[in-house]
Amino acid sequence: MPLKFPEQFLWGTATSPTQIEGHINNEWTDFVARDGRTCRVACDNYHRYAEDIEWMSRLGVNSYRMGIEWSRLQSEAGGPLHEAELARYVDQLDRLNAAGIVPMVVLHHFSNPPWINAAGGWTNPAAVPAFVDFATRLVAALRGHVRLWNTFNEPDTYASCGYLIGEFPPMRKGRLHSFRTVVGRMAEAHERVCRIIREAGSTLGKVEAGFSKNWTWFQPFNRFLPWDALFAAFCHWQINRFVLKSFLGGETKTAATFLGVNYYGRVRFKNLNPLVPTFGFSHQELAGLGVECDDMLERHPAGLESALKELHEQSRLPIYLTEHGCSSDDEAFRERDLKENLAALHRAIAGGVDVRGFYYWSLLDNFEWQFGYSKKFGLLEVDFSDARLLRKMKPLAQIYRQVCLENSIGHP
Ligand code: FCB
Repeated sequence: MPLKFPEQFLWGTATSPTQIEGHINNEWTDFVARDGRTCRVACDNYHRYAEDIEWMSRLGVNSYRMGIEWSRLQSEAGGPLHEAELARYVDQLDRLNAAGIVPMVVLHHFSNPPWINAAGGWTNPAAVPAFVDFATRLVAALRGHVRLWNTFNEPDTYASCGYLIGEFPPMRKGRLHSFRTVVGRMAEAHERVCRIIREAGSTLGKVEAGFSKNWTWFQPFNRFLPWDALFAAFCHWQINRFVLKSFLGGETKTAATFLGVNYYGRVRFKNLNPLVPTFGFSHQELAGLGVECDDMLERHPAGLESALKELHEQSRLPIYLTEHGCSSDDEAFRERDLKENLAALHRAIAGGVDVRGFYYWSLLDNFEWQFGYSKKFGLLEVDFSDARLLRKMKPLAQIYRQVCLENSIGHP
């Protein structure tokens, strides 16, 4: 029996400006990733968005989660939005709407304009009113083109990679105070922007607003090792609990109408080392320990069901699964990962969790931040060795297409 998803379910893919657009001027422009490459051209989606929308039509998705890059639109606090850049995004949104692909627009995805970074980024309180001003102008300009708004993508990842582990600009390590300050400021901006979005409304229908929380389970490999158990609890407390609490507005009800959840899997610690390939373990070593990973994280589909249940209970909000994906050259592995995670999502929905959509990360192979182009998350392959950056559907794209068109999956 195939597993059916609810009527009106949104099936989409997700991307972000820095990772695909190219020709961008933010803190990532001069950043050299571990593979020695930069995001300067990326997938050149800046010039090829029309072609990429055609690919999405072929994929059969009915939604697309994309970012609008703040650094393109404003060159100073309170300044007007650049008309030509805004017009380019409007054209992109119009083409999506015309193709029957509902856009979900992300306002902040790991990047700021240079003038925000020069002033200390989100450690400076001035970032909050500056962002609120940007969002106010953008929402007013786009209320006829957008109905679904995603304020912040993974403030937890942004702040922990930037201020705790030093892997994202500004590359700071062990700055717990800055981490918490940045999260707090973003949470404040999120709350204010959600109100602005709701007041502005959308001519396309009921407006929705929410942020996306990355949910990674942090666990000790051996729960009897006190240092690993403590370290995992610390990560869970800071990166999950603290961030969630800040964004859900504490005692007062949040202005958001939904909660976005990005789920990939889990990280287990052994003698304080995260058991994942990105921390130097080979797949073989990990498999020997019974830890099954893609090129980034441990797979843990059962954890998706429990995460969704917990997050729904805590937030009492409808959920969009705004990202899930798997990076590997092994398409059979990716197919199994997709099906197992969708089966877990289906169980959560059947158990009463109100999930309204699923976005596969990602439409294209792209610039994966500190790792550059070495992590292949795309449904479409991009040939980065050829200046034409040709796109081609991978086998997983055909599988996902079937899911989107039938609104169901066969049993994994
Ligand atoms: C998420 C990010 C996204 C991408 C995927 C693999 O944490 O939101 O930009 O890097 O992971």
